[in-house]
Amino acid sequence: MVLRSARYQLATLPTPVQRAERLERRLGCGPILVKRDDLTGFAAAGNKARPLEYLVGAALARGCDVLVTGGGPGSNFCSATAIAAAVAGLDCELVIAGVALPEPLPPNVALARAAGATVHLSGDDDREAVDAAVERLGAGLRTAGRRPFVLPRGGSTATGAFGFAVAAAELADQLAGWSGVLDGRRLTVVLPVGSGASCAGLLAGMASLGQHPWHLLGVSVSRPLAEIDARVRCLAADCAAEAGLPPPVAHDLELVDGRGAGFAAPSEANLDDARSALRSEGWLLDPTYTMKAFSVLVRRVHEDPETPVLFWHTGGVVAAVLGARPSLPSTTGTA
Ligand SMILES: Cc1ncc(COP(=O)(O)O)c(C=O)c1O
Repeated sequence: MVLRSARYQLATLPTPVQRAERLERRLGCGPILVKRDDLTGFAAAGNKARPLEYLVGAALARGCDVLVTGGGPGSNFCSATAIAAAVAGLDCELVIAGVALPEPLPPNVALARAAGATVHLSGDDDREAVDAAVERLGAGLRTAGRRPFVLPRGGSTATGAFGFAVAAAELADQLAGWSGVLDGRRLTVVLPVGSGASCAGLLAGMASLGQHPWHLLGVSVSRPLAEIDARVRCLAADCAAEAGLPPPVAHDLELVDGRGAGFAAPSEANLDDARSALRSEGWLLDPTYTMKAFSVLVRRVHEDPETPVLFWHTGGVVAAVLGARPSLPSTTGTA
């Protein structure tokens, strides 16, 4: 791969690939593997540590002094960007969707503030309005003499997606060690899809790994299928072109609609599946991303118990505690 931007190391890679044998027994199906990107080892960034390594690398290479991005009040990308900026010696300015911040602060916003980010409100509950507000904020900073590096929501640019093109090669290397378990069967890799950067990067990286290394199943958690399909394929093509990779293979990717009751709204079935994952493997799944993808995986293995699957656990652990209260009453005494 041609590295167009330098890596600024944030994550501890490779993340482990493990077999989930207790979950297999519980679901009565063939091998289930998991790629533990909840363990990328940088704050609670999960999968977002990967794009940020190349985005921060590009910002530093261009002499920028402030990262500018935005998202919803629950955005893992916003807090991860704030912390990445802090460790890289950059400032960070965020636009959060909404007209007011709830009290207590949403955990990702509190984390971003704790890391030193300046938080602005978009003045609009529609998350899409953040995009224009981020551009305006970047332009204002430029006028004021700053050197902003502006990132769209989720870091979904060709450079951000490149972090996951590298992850495709990482997984392929690791799967060589699981050939006895896979026994020549083609693996289905399942991951949640929000902005599309992770899925697009994986699709772009797969094309240089020989004949269809796995079937990629992306679970859209926020956008309608036609929109996310066009977005992911376009981003994958841009990423491949920028990185000097072969063009992505269209039929390596299947996208399904996993939105259910809506963004960040888990169904009873999602919560039940998440409890199974917690009780059999100790995985923490969040209601916006990983729960939705995991439920699609559970449905797939019920329909087809013979096909081996890999769950790409993308993290989201800040929001992962099932049914927990947002704040604790104050207590006294020693720990
Ligand atoms: C925990 C988690 N999983 C998955 C995703 C989706 O990744 P992408 O935006 O690259 O599609 C996100 C996005 O913020 C996330 O926070």
